Amino acid sequence: MKLLIDDANLSAIKRIYDLYPCDGVTTNPSILAKTGKWPYEALLAIRAFIGEEADLHAQVIGRDAETMAAEGRRIASLLGRNTYIKIPAVPQGLKAMRILSGEGLRVTATAVYTVQQAYLAGKAGADFAAPYVNRIDNLGGDGVETACRIHDLYRVNNMKTQILAASFKNTRQVLALAEYGAAAATASPEVIEGMMKNADVDAAVEAFIADFESLCGPGKNMLEG
Ligand code: G3P
Repeated sequence: MKLLIDDANLSAIKRIYDLYPCDGVTTNPSILAKTGKWPYEALLAIRAFIGEEADLHAQVIGRDAETMAAEGRRIASLLGRNTYIKIPAVPQGLKAMRILSGEGLRVTATAVYTVQQAYLAGKAGADFAAPYVNRIDNLGGDGVETACRIHDLYRVNNMKTQILAASFKNTRQVLALAEYGAAAATASPEVIEGMMKNADVDAAVEAFIADFESLCGPGKNMLEG
């Protein structure tokens, strides 16, 4: 499963990229607004940092298909070939997905809350569909189950579309999708870091270091001797 960072804050992205194996960055208008920067300023800086091979997802704003398609072309022309145009899975969005996927651009259907939305987005040519796992949970549904059903729907219908599960609030949701074989998930820096947060592991590593230092001396390591 690809793991992407759902954030536009460059220092947070750098912090995660430095330690964690990640495949790219996803953004949405709300995430971009938090940076306080002009959208293309933030997005170009992210692209420059992650490199042209990594996946970058950027969302259109327009309410009609033609505007969405025009935004998508501009996003792709400025941010490079490995950029996915995020288009909300609404009726006008379905039309925009058909237009842009027909032009060979990469498309991610976003704001996916239901399996039927994902089905239509897939038929409209989306490469990815992003089920909002935690938001579905908060509506009383089962976000992980919905994402898994979408994954199965694409496979059983031989569609090219894959899931990019999004909107995670805990690591268990991410892990469940990885275990199911989801193609991709995007999570906040905090959730990604949470996957490695474990006081028992930290204590075990500290005990190894303390035992080594009691043998060889403080500050020593396997570079010595
Ligand atoms: O980018 C879309 C998705 O990740 C939204 O997440 O945390 O706002 O529910 P959230």
